[in-house]
Order: sequence, then structure tokens, then C-alpha cells
Amino acid sequence: MSKFIIKGGTPLKGEITISGNKNAALPIIAATVLTDEDCTLTNVPDILDVKAMFNILENLGKTVTKKEQGVFHISGAASHSNPSPDLVERLRASILYLGALLGRHRAATIAPPGGCVIGKRGLDVHVDVFCGMGVSLDFSGGSYAATLKKEKPSKLFLQEASVTATENALLLAATIDQETIIDNAACEPHVKDLADVLIKMGANIQGAGSNRIVIKGNKTLSGFSHDIVADNIEAGTFMVAALCTQGDILIRNIRKEHLFMPTFFMKLMGAEPEFIDEKTVRVKYQKPLTAPSRKIQVGLWPGFPTDLMSPMVVLATQAQGATLCHDWMFESRMFFCDKLVGMGANITICDPHRVIVNGASSLKGQHLSSPDLRAGIALVIAAMSAEGESTIDNADIIDRGYERVVPRLQALGANIERVE
Ligand code: EPU
Repeated sequence: MSKFIIKGGTPLKGEITISGNKNAALPIIAATVLTDEDCTLTNVPDILDVKAMFNILENLGKTVTKKEQGVFHISGAASHSNPSPDLVERLRASILYLGALLGRHRAATIAPPGGCVIGKRGLDVHVDVFCGMGVSLDFSGGSYAATLKKEKPSKLFLQEASVTATENALLLAATIDQETIIDNAACEPHVKDLADVLIKMGANIQGAGSNRIVIKGNKTLSGFSHDIVADNIEAGTFMVAALCTQGDILIRNIRKEHLFMPTFFMKLMGAEPEFIDEKTVRVKYQKPLTAPSRKIQVGLWPGFPTDLMSPMVVLATQAQGATLCHDWMFESRMFFCDKLVGMGANITICDPHRVIVNGASSLKGQHLSSPDLRAGIALVIAAMSAEGESTIDNADIIDRGYERVVPRLQALGANIERVE
């Protein structure tokens, strides 16, 4: 496992280009299983979770060729539908291969997926989706053995607007020549990006991006070329990093409409992100921040994204006054706050979901360890904002979702190094 050594106190300055959206790339990679024709993906983030999804694709018999940075060509057929459990267990998103393989082969066996430990993350909604679509599921062997018994029209009502369960429903429904309706569907931009790909492949999909999606699939789907949508979480993370380090960053390749809520709270805190156009924002620290007058609470899209909550807590440590941060989705999201307290932050942990951050605090460098992807990058931001040196162990977990963290932060002036 690598570690990051960070000497804090340098404002981040310069330009950065945002990568493709991790949580769009992962289901879109799974979607390539649905066709034997060639697919080309551009703006693919260079992150470990993408590599893990490509490894599963290769294990299934497809060929993945890197053409240049961020550009991949995928060809060949998925010759079987039992991906290696060792590969599946590396990440949570591997569950998306269940929908994709059912779509392609009408039967699949897949081990339980792995993933970040940020709380209890069951697969009940996935099970509901598949059962509602006529799939029989057997978990008696310790893996999900699934068979599509009968193609039929389906009307699904998701008990929770689960992102990956909606994507699994889309992947299978895209191959069924009958109507599938998904109510209480997840509305995230990455769900919409997957739907856009499935439309390019030949499925008829209405309503993606809203909470009712209607799909009329097509058994034979074609190859496609697709530019992965920009990562709103990475963009929000760099916006926070600019403010916490009192820097000035021009952030390119964003989607302004995907940054409404983070921008809303940053403005309430006295920051003034300046959108130069729909794809570019400049975030310049101008004056001391104040706690927002309202609690920061995560929501389903288009609410405040849970995956930005950890960086936002660090931002709250730099704002004068009390900020209530509430993540009702994940039970362990806030556990990393004790590390911020160790750095000098004044945070009252009310319960697993809510913390009150009393700022502004001068943070001090510490020996830290990254507990999960989003807490990990939040600790990097805290370390860059702190006085003195920090070491962040378990840094590879940050590489799962953030592209080339060290060189990109170094290019902004950060004093950060990776030690293997
Ligand atoms: N939840 C509810 N009510 C809802 C919807 C969700 O309580 O209406 C809860 C779930 O019970 C669960 C949590 O919220 O505890 C997340 O649920 P979901 O099933 O939507 O999560 P997921 O599909 O497993 C995806 C992302 C996560 C992101 C969540 C929430 C991918 C590959 N993963 O996970 O991304 O946190 O949606 O937006 O798309 C990350 O990138 O760091 C990450 C963990």
C-alpha cells in the first residue's frame, strides 16, 4: 500500500481538467458486454475502479485496447457469464455485470461484490429489480446464480432510488423487446449517461434523468462511441480544495448544471465560484468563509451528493461558526471526522449520520490513514490546508476514484509525494 506525504500550507493555484465520471464509466464499461460489436470510450478516468472493471471484461473474453490516455477500444464477445470472484470482489460496481450478463446470456453467476466500507450496503433493491423482471435468483452457493426465466413487460417500483439498481434494471431492460417501466428510479447524471449509451446501442429509453424511466429494449444491440460525462464529484472536490487552501484554480471540463448544490453551499459560506461558461469555473479564495446559515444535508439527485460530503466537512472546518453536516445515506461516512479532530478541528459527532463542525480551525499535520475513497481525498485536502507534514496511509484507496492525484495536485503547487 502506498502513502502520501503532504506538507501543507501552500495555496493551490493554476488550472485543472476534470476527468470522466467514475460512476458513469463503470456501468458503461459493463454495457459493452451487451454487444459483440466494437465500442470506443473516450474521457475514461485513469482510476483503479475502471481498471478493475476492464479486468472483469477481459476475464469474460472481451479485448480492451488502450488507444491513448482516456481512450479505449473494446471488441470481441463475452464468451461466458461467470466472472472470476477474485475480480468481482474488488469493487461494488461489479454487481453491474449481473444486469449486463443477464442481458447478453440470459443467465449469469456472480460473487457478492466488494467496495468501500461506508455503511451497510445491501443488494435488496437489485434483487427486487431482477425478480420483478422475471429473473430467478439463487444464493445458496454463496454467489448470485441468476436466470431470466421469461421475457415480459415489467413495472418496477424501487423501494429506494438506488443508483446501481436502476443501472442494472436499465442494462437488462435494454435487451428485452417489451416495455419496462422503472418508477422511483435514480436520477443521477451517471444514470443518464448510461441511458444515453444504451440509446446509441439501439434501445428506446424515455425519461432517463427523471424518476420514471420507460424502456423498450432490443435483443440485438450495436457498438457505440461515447465520451464519458465529466465527474461532478471530482469537480466539487477541487472546488473545495481551492477554498480550503486559500488558492485560485481554474477548473475545466465541468458540467455547470451538475454543480448546483455544492455551489449553493459554497456561496452561502461566502465564496464566489465564477462560472466562466458551462464547462469552466474559477474558484478563488477571496475572504474568510463563514458557516452556512442552513444545514448541509445530502439528498437524492439533484440534492447535495453524498460523495461530496467528506470534502464539505473539511471545508466547514475552515468556516467561522457552526455547520451541521448530515449524511443520512451512509452510516460510516462521518467516521473519518475523528481524524480531523486529531488534526485540530472542533467537531461534535452527534450520531453516525450527523456532525456539528465549529470553525474556523487551524489544522496541524498528522499521521493519518484513508478509511474510504471520499474520506481519503478529504484528508488530502485537510493535509494540504494544515500546518506541517501529514502522512496518509492506505493511499491506494484514493486511486480507486481520483485520477493521478499526486501529479495533478503537484501541478497546482501542492507539496505532495507518493511513497510506495
Ligand atoms: N438509500 C436510501 N434511500 C434511497 C436511496 C438510497 O436510504 O432512496 C441508501 C441506500 O440504502 C444505501 C445508500 O443510500 O445505503 C446508497 O444507495 P445506492 O444503492 O444508490 O448506492 P450504490 O448504487 O451502491 C452509488 C455509487 C456510490 C454513491 C451512491 C449514492 C456507483 C458505482 N456507486 O452506489 O458511489 O455513494 O450511489 O449516490 O455508482 C463513490 O463513488 O464513492 C460511491 C460510493
